[in-house]
Amino acid sequence: MSRETAFSMDTSSILFGPGVTRELGEHVRQRGVTRVLLVTDRQLVASAAVATACASLRAAGVSLEIFDGVVVEPTDVSLTEAIEAARAGGYAGYVAVGGGSTIDTTKVAALYARYPAPLRTYVNPPIGAGQPVPGPLPPIFAVPTTAGTGSETTGVAIFDDLTLHAKTGIAHRALRPVLGLLDPDHTRSQPPLVAACSGLDVVCHALESLTALPYHQRVAPEHPGMRPSYQGANPISDVWSAHAITLATRYLLRAIEDPSDDEARAAMLQASAFAGIGFGNAGVHLAHGMSYPVSGMVRSFHAPGYPTARPLVPHGMSVILNAPAVFRFTAPADPERHLRAAALLGADTRGAAPEDAGELIATTLIALIRRIGLPNGLAALGYGEADLDALVAGTLPQHRVTRLSPRPASADDLRQLFRQSLRLW
Ligand SMILES: NC(=O)c1ccc[n+]([C@@H]2O[C@H](COP(=O)([O-])OP(=O)(O)OC[C@H]3O[C@@H](n4cnc5c(N)ncnc54)[C@H](O)[C@@H]3O)[C@@H](O)[C@H]2O)c1
Repeated sequence: MSRETAFSMDTSSILFGPGVTRELGEHVRQRGVTRVLLVTDRQLVASAAVATACASLRAAGVSLEIFDGVVVEPTDVSLTEAIEAARAGGYAGYVAVGGGSTIDTTKVAALYARYPAPLRTYVNPPIGAGQPVPGPLPPIFAVPTTAGTGSETTGVAIFDDLTLHAKTGIAHRALRPVLGLLDPDHTRSQPPLVAACSGLDVVCHALESLTALPYHQRVAPEHPGMRPSYQGANPISDVWSAHAITLATRYLLRAIEDPSDDEARAAMLQASAFAGIGFGNAGVHLAHGMSYPVSGMVRSFHAPGYPTARPLVPHGMSVILNAPAVFRFTAPADPERHLRAAALLGADTRGAAPEDAGELIATTLIALIRRIGLPNGLAALGYGEADLDALVAGTLPQHRVTRLSPRPASADDLRQLFRQSLRLW
């Protein structure tokens, strides 16, 4: 079994700046696209972001129809509706205006409208068949309104499979938007918990990609076309991930606590994209893998600011609450790297030994979680000892990410990690 010797670096083009949404129509037209489906959700359809995007498209002579049926944290059911809307229209391009839920829904709609197939066809194995996307998609333009998932830079789309009670996804380079328009004017209106959860997702993307299994420890693909999007930590993704942690450490609390702080919001939108470039190539690992059943098995938790009738654990919350236990567990695999991550997070590492790294990351993250006012662990979301086996069972099939853990985690290890995540302080 030979080891990987190469890594690649792929990302979307990025246009950053207050007001760049006004340039959207011009970029769409330059690609020869004259008719698009604009995808958003019902909260945002009346927002300035959508109004500006529509005006810009029309001014450039691009005709559009709007699909506003995106569901927060998309499901197999909500994706099917979006696919039908996309298929019915035969669009030459797609514009996503919204958070990660909207951008991911747009990717999936564009994929299955172009290459119709049962939903699990392109979904990651072992949950889906994991077939590669057969060819290119019509161009996708993404205007994120959260900071954020970094989905505007990645070839990944995540959804909640309601029958399995677990999140899963599709990962292929063809899903990557051609252009992400990062307009910090749009993130001003994020409800505080949305800013907090999406910002903590940035922190975890960056920490997990920086500490992921190094690419050269993966098994080599049978041929270059089989090289996964998530390849493991590598020298280029490290640069993006490390800088994203630095920005989030400096600006996340400011952006949450004062939405009028333009400097902080702009920095967090950049951090979101930078972390997206890092994890979109290196991958994430256990905190994300464990988050999928936490989100999927939710029974009654409702998050203020998330307008949904169904119980919901916001994605960033489900990831960060597992993170302290995860980094305590993974740190021994590469203490120096974890110590560097702790320092980037703002932990006082003076005089610390490498073996202190896991505890330093964990205590810094717990202090951040408390300061932001998130629940005290999975128990506060309604989980208990009796749920541990099911949480483990929901994590084990998430190979795409769990195999990138720098320290392999058995079912018993995962049970311990979930147990430690029930209460953080
Ligand atoms: N594809 C990827 O690479 C990737 C990465 C991370 C997360 N995700 C996925 O993204 C989803 C989470 O996305 P998210 O955290 O961006 O949130 P979201 O898209 O689910 O939005 C959350 C809520 O905030 C509202 N909202 C968003 N922006 C707003 C704004 N500017 N003003 C007012 N309201 C606003 C939305 O209408 C929605 O009600 C999850 O499904 C997660 O699994 C995908």
